[in-house]
Amino acid sequence: MVRADLAAAGVRLNAYAEALLDRPEFGTESPEPQTVEVVLRSVSELGLTDGGTLPEVFAAAASAGLRLCPLTTGPALRLALLDQESAPDSVLSTGRAPTGSIHVASAPVSEDHEVPKGFYLRVIDGVPWLRGYRCDDVHVHAPDVVFAFARHSAPVTAHSTSGNPVGAAMDDLEDFVPSANQRVDPDVYEIENRAMDREQTLWTELRRQSDWRDRVILDLGCGSGYWLPHYGDAQQVIGVEPDPTLIAFAEQRPGEAVVLRGSAEHIPLADASVDVVHARFAYFFPHPRFDPSAGLREVGRVLREGGTLVVIDNDTETGEFAELLRRSAAAAAQGQDTYARQWWASQGADTTEVMSSWTFDTREDLEAVLHLEFPVELADSWLADHPETTALTYGYLVHRWTTPSGASA
Ligand SMILES: C[S@@+](CC[C@H](N)C(=O)[O-])C[C@H]1O[C@@H](n2cnc3c(N)ncnc32)[C@H](O)[C@@H]1O
Repeated sequence: MVRADLAAAGVRLNAYAEALLDRPEFGTESPEPQTVEVVLRSVSELGLTDGGTLPEVFAAAASAGLRLCPLTTGPALRLALLDQESAPDSVLSTGRAPTGSIHVASAPVSEDHEVPKGFYLRVIDGVPWLRGYRCDDVHVHAPDVVFAFARHSAPVTAHSTSGNPVGAAMDDLEDFVPSANQRVDPDVYEIENRAMDREQTLWTELRRQSDWRDRVILDLGCGSGYWLPHYGDAQQVIGVEPDPTLIAFAEQRPGEAVVLRGSAEHIPLADASVDVVHARFAYFFPHPRFDPSAGLREVGRVLREGGTLVVIDNDTETGEFAELLRRSAAAAAQGQDTYARQWWASQGADTTEVMSSWTFDTREDLEAVLHLEFPVELADSWLADHPETTALTYGYLVHRWTTPSGASA
């Protein structure tokens, strides 16, 4: 459909653009129509007067309240801008952006720099082109290179979930471990998030540990983005998530958050650009067979001096949820407290215990969540032992780590 529209308008494609158009975003189960208000900014207009790498350009745009376009904006913008001025020359040279081009800023579809990162538009000798571009994360885009971003106020819904089937595009971030709960059933995980900490003891502790008011906060491994709108009083909210299926949900959350594809080990943000990082049940599960040092180093890179990482994990010793965890072999694989506490202590982090609860609206909701999180026999046996309840006590461990040069290091 998109190809036919482009061909009818006389748009020519290079091989990289062809490759991008083969992606699931342009498949037969294509996303519903969406509105994206596009703004053009040169790299220097974003404050990068000496030019910037792609992560720097995207971070500068995020700080300016701009967000990335869905990949599908490339062809749509090409068709909307058929009157784009012809480039002053028809030269293409390696390592330099073609003159008169507009790069459409979208989340890189792959960490592999051989795979085109996104589209750019150019008119050469009167012929409109839609082309794909490649670059790595150290290539510096010159100050006059122009990018198209989406304005925050626009209701951007990048992908429909139906257009992004489970299993699509999972193999391009090597460090991505699909979550065993949220990805399997995002609707039930939504119920779980809604049941969490209604008394706000955890939330109050998070504020106390490192207040994000008027600061830049990164929700690392933000999943479907449930918590992104809750950081509304931050200066800037950024969600980073490796799972394309979950990103699609995160992008549809209300609020101003910028959602980027990335992982703890590969955060697509500039050095020293973030004040607070939250990782909620994401990646940081220290275990004898898993050392999360690579992610910690990367968090240290993007945090400003004195910035704080706050990791939210389960307390496997205290509370009714801990009792369930201790009886579940699968959950134990995520790591036991003693090891996690020691690992964080060895990194200079401190650990705080917080007691809260899961409180559900209905017994059915509690049952659905326990069946998502635990083997059916274990969930059913716990439910049989607690026939009336719609709530259970839940202990959290909050690990707080500050950049080595920071105040509390
Ligand atoms: C249990 S979910 C929690 C999601 C979200 N933080 C929340 O609380 O709603 C775990 C998340 O970690 C993400 N994840 C997996 N591997 C990761 C990595 N290497 N770096 C960052 N996040 C990762 C998963 O895709 C998933 O979104």
